[in-house]
Amino acid sequence: MKAIVQHAYGSAGDAMSLREINKPTPKDDEVLLRVHAAGVNWADWSLTAGRPYVMRLIYGFRKPRQGSLGSDVAGTVEAVGNTVTNLQVGDEVFGAAKGSFAEYATAKAKQVAPKPAGLSFEHAAAIPMAGLVALQALRDVGKISAGQKVLVNGASGGIGSFTVQIAKEMGAEVTGVASTANLDMLRAIGADHVIDYTQDDFTQGTEKYDLILDMADKHSIAERRGVLTANGTLIPNSGVGGAWFGSVGRIVRAKLLSPFIKHNLKPFLSLPKQEDLVTLGELAEAGTITATIDRAVPLADTATAIAYVGAGHAKGKTVITVD
Ligand SMILES: NC(=O)c1ccc[n+]([C@@H]2O[C@H](COP(=O)([O-])OP(=O)(O)OC[C@H]3O[C@@H](n4cnc5c(N)ncnc54)[C@H](OP(=O)(O)O)[C@@H]3O)[C@@H](O)[C@H]2O)c1
Repeated sequence: MKAIVQHAYGSAGDAMSLREINKPTPKDDEVLLRVHAAGVNWADWSLTAGRPYVMRLIYGFRKPRQGSLGSDVAGTVEAVGNTVTNLQVGDEVFGAAKGSFAEYATAKAKQVAPKPAGLSFEHAAAIPMAGLVALQALRDVGKISAGQKVLVNGASGGIGSFTVQIAKEMGAEVTGVASTANLDMLRAIGADHVIDYTQDDFTQGTEKYDLILDMADKHSIAERRGVLTANGTLIPNSGVGGAWFGSVGRIVRAKLLSPFIKHNLKPFLSLPKQEDLVTLGELAEAGTITATIDRAVPLADTATAIAYVGAGHAKGKTVITVD
């Protein structure tokens, strides 16, 4: 099969190539998927670059151990592992896979969900990681209820665009922050208010928010606490940071500070829960959420797509089409 193989850490163009390799074999609790589309995430850029360096303790010090890239997937089940009972050959699914930038990839049967019939593979592949962060941040971490005020910083990106739509569905009043060119997109996906970060600083405004989900993390915690309501929640959510430890320092500082202040500081890691993928599929099928596809490119152009997402200004999601 054709697959993107990562043979080094570095710039996307140098770190990977399109090669002919053997199809993977699913383990007992996995399925083999014929990949139709694969979503690109900031995590793919991070793994490509091998940054922050601390992650190399897990993925390989000098070069990546696993070689495969890509996790978001939409595809058709080609084979099932011995203990898999919830899926059959021919089922169309979307979710989290191992090595989805390829013609075939394996996935845990519990980390994929049925693809809604009315949803294209391309749109389904755009949902998993970004949609899961948005849903889990609003519902489980922020515990948002109708009428509350939510500010999404970095609202036009992959996670931000789903967050705006899901927060609206939950009845929140949503403020989206992005650069000038993306403000119309924010209004189109339902934001009640928009702030252009090139002109205005949301931490200097008079409005208070019950939840701030911050994909940029350019302000200090104190600055952002200044625009939280009395029991408001801040989710610092950018993985970008120093070369060695990335965002780890910011996360540790937030955790240490949290018990001593009235506000909730809650950095978190999203999980590929099947029931949440089902929820996202239902929201997509109902038209409540729609993936904004910035660009869809063929498998051979994966390196360019990863570099684009890594630059941090995607408008919605970037997707690899594999057919
Ligand atoms: N918690 C988790 O489990 C988890 C999971 C996945 C990813 N993440 C993290 O989430 C972050 C965002 O991911 P994503 O996929 O949404 O990224 P993305 O698609 O690249 O979106 C980033 C957004 O940030 C905006 N932005 C850039 N500079 C900004 C600034 N100074 N102020 C305000 N907004 C700014 C961009 O808007 P403009 O184009 O208008 O500048 C863009 O819309 C990543 O850093 C990643 O590490 C966390």
